[in-house]
Amino acid sequence: MSSASLSLDGNTYDLPLITGSEGERGVNIARLRSESGMITVDPGYTSTGSCESAITFIDGEKGILRYRGYPIEQLAEQSDFVEVAWLLLYGDLPNEEQLSEFRAQLTYHSMIHEDMKKFFEGFPNNAHPMAILSAMVSSLSTYYPESEDENEHDQNIIRLLAKVRTLATYAYKKSIGQPLTYPLNRLRYCENFLHMMFAVPCEDFQVNPVMAKALNALLILHADHEQNCSTSTVRMVGSSRANIFASISAGISALWGPLHGGANQAVLEMLQMIQDDGGDYKKWVKKAKDKDDGFRLMGFGHRVYKNFDPRAIILRKMSDELLSELGLSDPLLEIAKNLEQVALEDDYFVSRRLYPNVDFYSGILYRAMGIPTNMFTVMFSIGRLPGWLAHWKELRDSGARINRPRQIYTGANERDYVELAQRG
Ligand code: CMC
Repeated sequence: MSSASLSLDGNTYDLPLITGSEGERGVNIARLRSESGMITVDPGYTSTGSCESAITFIDGEKGILRYRGYPIEQLAEQSDFVEVAWLLLYGDLPNEEQLSEFRAQLTYHSMIHEDMKKFFEGFPNNAHPMAILSAMVSSLSTYYPESEDENEHDQNIIRLLAKVRTLATYAYKKSIGQPLTYPLNRLRYCENFLHMMFAVPCEDFQVNPVMAKALNALLILHADHEQNCSTSTVRMVGSSRANIFASISAGISALWGPLHGGANQAVLEMLQMIQDDGGDYKKWVKKAKDKDDGFRLMGFGHRVYKNFDPRAIILRKMSDELLSELGLSDPLLEIAKNLEQVALEDDYFVSRRLYPNVDFYSGILYRAMGIPTNMFTVMFSIGRLPGWLAHWKELRDSGARINRPRQIYTGANERDYVELAQRG
């Protein structure tokens, strides 16, 4: 079958089918409006594909996630974040020369303009680092105005990847009143982040290789997830031909919400609340099931995964390994495991196919690394950046039209303006 037919008011419309490289099929309705005057309606976009993309494949029924064809399990185990960033952006694994040049570029561009340090002084100490990050990323456009030169796009992609770590760690240092730490050129991407986060001028600081390895894997697991809310936002903003910094800043803001990337902070706060409340996790599972109670089990459920989120499986294992390698024990990890077990056996969660998602265990890992809770979503942003950039690039290279959904209007019908004195 190469088309679907739709009957409307006695007319039949042939709608071409489109098939992806993994056999996924969709009905192309692009001409429906011009031919029939009707639109389709799909609040929340449950059944709507917004684009074709060659970057990431997800099979939510089978729990499969692949970047450019490579299984997430192999990348998390064998690759590193910079290599994965290249893969997402340019479609293939880099050769040795490409990778070393890419690493060198990320090192070369890791400082931010000295004047930008003054921006940090203006924020209150308790400002959320996600607010600072999105403001700072947008501000980069004032230093690097965009031209339509394609080389300039690639240069700005490098700048964003290189500088996001510096901006994120400056936001953190500012919030705790410590001097800002400059990047060190001899360190690799994740090592440099940990250095800028934790080094202080009065002490020698050695990056713990166990933490650097865990951070690489964590960032890889977050690096892309096809048309999620923040990536769709980046594509939406980018479709107006807004500059790359403005588009990524919008993605950071979208990620911040607790139903999306903000869930990792919400999970840790939830686990802490359960512990402070005496640790009775069954009580909280009950609350999550109660439709009159606004409480949800944060880190559970996913729009696409109706089986285990493959990232959560890797992170659960990593949590055990990292804590044991660092010689730590965390009561919140025990609460998380207990919650997971109770929920997975409960008919409410089983029937709705709600499983732990990527945010359920990532916070335990960040906490073990000494990263404060309000920085968790910033960590997600650093990880997701290559994905956002790859989608922005794919969109711009495709010359896509501006994204402009339609609506069904449900407001008042035409009525005449009433003078103020005559209104009741
Ligand atoms: N706890 C309790 N009930 C839930 C949960 C949860 N975490 N998630 C979904 N449900 C219920 C929901 O009440 C609904 O029940 P019913 O059919 O009886 O009305 C049903 O499951 C379907 O939920 P939905 O909200 O319609 O599903 P959605 O696809 O619109 O939302 C979600 C997906 C991830 C926003 C949602 O599952 C959720 O709010 N989870 C908690 C927040 C979270 O962990 N977000 C991170 C998502 S993964 C990383 C990322 O994308 O950033």
